[in-house]
Amino acid sequence: MRIDRPPMGWNSWNTFGNDISEDLILKTADVMADEGLLDAGYKYLVIDDCWSLKERDKDGRLVPDPEKFPHGMKYLADYIHGKGLKFGMYSCAGTQTCAGYPGSFEHEFTDAATFAGWGVDYLKYDYCYHSPIIPGKYLYRRMGLALANCGRDILFAACSWGSDETQEWIKTTGASIWRSTGDIFDTWQSVKDLADRQDALLPYNGHGCFNDMDMLIVGMHGKGNVGLSGCSDVQYRTHFSLWAFMGSPLMIGCDIRNMDDVTRQTLTNRELIRINQDGWYSQPFALTPMMIQSSVKIYAKLLENGDVAVGCFNMEDTKTTARFNIDEIGLPVSTGKTLQMREVWSGQETAPREGTVFWDLEPYGCAVFRCRLTDLA
Ligand code: GAL
Repeated sequence: MRIDRPPMGWNSWNTFGNDISEDLILKTADVMADEGLLDAGYKYLVIDDCWSLKERDKDGRLVPDPEKFPHGMKYLADYIHGKGLKFGMYSCAGTQTCAGYPGSFEHEFTDAATFAGWGVDYLKYDYCYHSPIIPGKYLYRRMGLALANCGRDILFAACSWGSDETQEWIKTTGASIWRSTGDIFDTWQSVKDLADRQDALLPYNGHGCFNDMDMLIVGMHGKGNVGLSGCSDVQYRTHFSLWAFMGSPLMIGCDIRNMDDVTRQTLTNRELIRINQDGWYSQPFALTPMMIQSSVKIYAKLLENGDVAVGCFNMEDTKTTARFNIDEIGLPVSTGKTLQMREVWSGQETAPREGTVFWDLEPYGCAVFRCRLTDLA
C-alpha cells in the first residue's frame, strides 16, 4: 500500500519490549481512540517483537503466544478497527526476529497471507539474523511482493536501520517508510545522534517512502524497555519537534495509559502535526547559522499553501540565540517580501525587517515557526 503522509501511531517496543499482552493492547486502543490521540492523527497501533510462540505450527504458520494473546490476533484487529484505528504487526527478514522469535525468511508469502487473514494494516519488517549471502534488497523485495499480493492493503514499514545503503534500494521494494537510523534510546545523546545521522539522508526522504527516524521517546522518563536516563520535558519537546519537522513517522513509544498532561500537550501540538503531515512533503534544508553556533540546527521547508516552516533546535545545555538570514529561503530584501513568523509552541510572532532573524533558545529548547509571506512595506 502507498501512503501520501508519514504514518502516525503507537508502537509497543520502546516501553514494553517483551512485556506485551492483550490487555495492554486493548487498553492502549481505548486511550488512543478516546483521549484525543486518534483525533490528532495517531491511528496505527503496532505490536512490535515478541508476540509469537518460538515455533511455527505444523503448516509453517506463525502462532500468537496464547498466554499473551489468548483470543488471537483477529480478535485484536476487530477491536482495534472497531475503535477507528489501524492494526500493525511486526516480523523480520531474517530467520529470527531480533528478540529470537521466528522470522519470515523463506516464509514470506505464508506470513503475508496470515497477516492479511488477521486483518493487519501495517507490517514493520526488521533485519536481524538475515542471510549473509542474499542482499537485503532481495529480502525486502520478497516481502514487498508478498504483501502486494496478499489481498489486503498492508503498509510495508522497512526496518533495516539504514544499513547496506538502504536508501539506495528501498524505493524498489514497495516499502512506504524506511528506518533511516539505528535504534533510539531514552537519552538526549540518542536523540542527538539520530538527528545528526539524518542530515545526510534528507535528500532520500519524500513521497512514496518516508525516512523513519525511529519511534518517539516522548514521555518515557526513563521507564521501560529502552528507558535509560530519560530526558527532560524540554528535551522531549525538542525531540518531537525535530521528528515532526523532518517529516518522520510519529510513532508514540510511551505508556499512554499513564500519560501526563505535558506529554499529551507535546504529542498533540496541532501546528507541528500539520507541518509533519503537509501535503507537499518537501525536503527540509539546513540554513546556515550566522556566527558560531555549532549547537543549533536550523532548517526550513516549503509548505503546500505557499507558507514556509522554519525550525531552530538547540542541541546543547547552554542558552543561545539562533541567527539566520531568510535570503537562503529565497527572500532577500530586494524581493520586497518578508516572513510573518508564528512560533507554534508559544504563539509569539516576529517579522524580520532586514532579512535576519534572531531568536533566543533555552538550553535544549527549540522554536518552530509557521511563516506566511508578507510585504515589507
Ligand atoms: C530492532 C528494531 C527495534 C525493535 C527491535 C525488536 O531491530 O530496530 O525498533 O523492533 O528490533 O527486537
